[in-house]
Amino acid sequence: MNIKESIESVRKSFRADSDPFPNDSQAVDDLRVKYLGRKGLVANLFSKMKDVSANDRPMAGKLLNDIKQEISYVIDSHIDSSKSDKSGKNESDYSLPGLTFPVGHVHPLQQTMDDIKSIFMNIGFSVAYGPEIDDDFHNFSALNFPPEHPARDMQDTFFIDPETVLRTHTSNVQIHLMEEKDPPLRYIIPGRVYRNEAISFKSYCLFHQVEGLYVDKFVSFADQKGILEYFVKRMFGSETKMRFRPSFFPFTEPSAEVDIWSEKRGQWLEILGCGMVDPEVFKSVDIDSDIWHGFAFGMGIERICMLKYGIDDIRLLYQGDMRFLEQF
Ligand code: PHE
Repeated sequence: MNIKESIESVRKSFRADSDPFPNDSQAVDDLRVKYLGRKGLVANLFSKMKDVSANDRPMAGKLLNDIKQEISYVIDSHIDSSKSDKSGKNESDYSLPGLTFPVGHVHPLQQTMDDIKSIFMNIGFSVAYGPEIDDDFHNFSALNFPPEHPARDMQDTFFIDPETVLRTHTSNVQIHLMEEKDPPLRYIIPGRVYRNEAISFKSYCLFHQVEGLYVDKFVSFADQKGILEYFVKRMFGSETKMRFRPSFFPFTEPSAEVDIWSEKRGQWLEILGCGMVDPEVFKSVDIDSDIWHGFAFGMGIERICMLKYGIDDIRLLYQGDMRFLEQF
């Protein structure tokens, strides 16, 4: 018998001896001594190594290590699983807690998006989506951006061709909704937007927004204040201090931005833009602004997520680094 055959025969014999695995501890000790003891079968195999030709020695060494590992593994794993069993009988302890398996969880950005959606859905908003690749009309002209407006500049907008852009905001879907449906309208529109900006801790070439659009017969700035106040308190806590600060957007008049007060940083932080739908916008979608009024708002989800969870670099949200993600 050459060494390979000897190893195989020890393996066969061990498999026969260990199946079924003995269930009293004396028999297990005997099994260990028989195979792994100082004068056991495995040691005996090792002693044969001196007769193996130099050529075959690496192969034989590997086979020997393998069988030694296999035998130790089988014996050890049986002993581990019956450790709590002092009686020597191999009975299960049904009071032990079950095994738990690691499960994934929702990404903080998705979590933020879900929270925003559910807050608005609670007060009667529906969710709508729209195209990420759109024409100049929906992304700019219909929203009352004058032809020379800086937002159309090559530096901000990714152009596919002179007439087609990657949307720079979700406001394009305001136009699609008003073209397709008759008022009253009450929608939020989550989605991805693109801007050709230098990538840094605070900006990325792609990010997410949630747009809101509310059109009805008697809608005032007071309604908008009430709804956005409700949103802020639900999102950041009922004690959150907030303010409306006058601002400008081509498609809303009057316009405002909402800031929340950060105790930690001692400063106001901007979280969203809003305003009453400009009559020019209604005109571009053939809605009579003498009858219908509305307000719109838009917020960056990354920004809200970063403020809520104290994240200081936007790029962390896209890198899929488990050390970061596991903290949520
Ligand atoms: N679209 C604006 C932006 O991207 C946000 C906004 C939406 C402002 C709706 C007012 C009304 O900055």
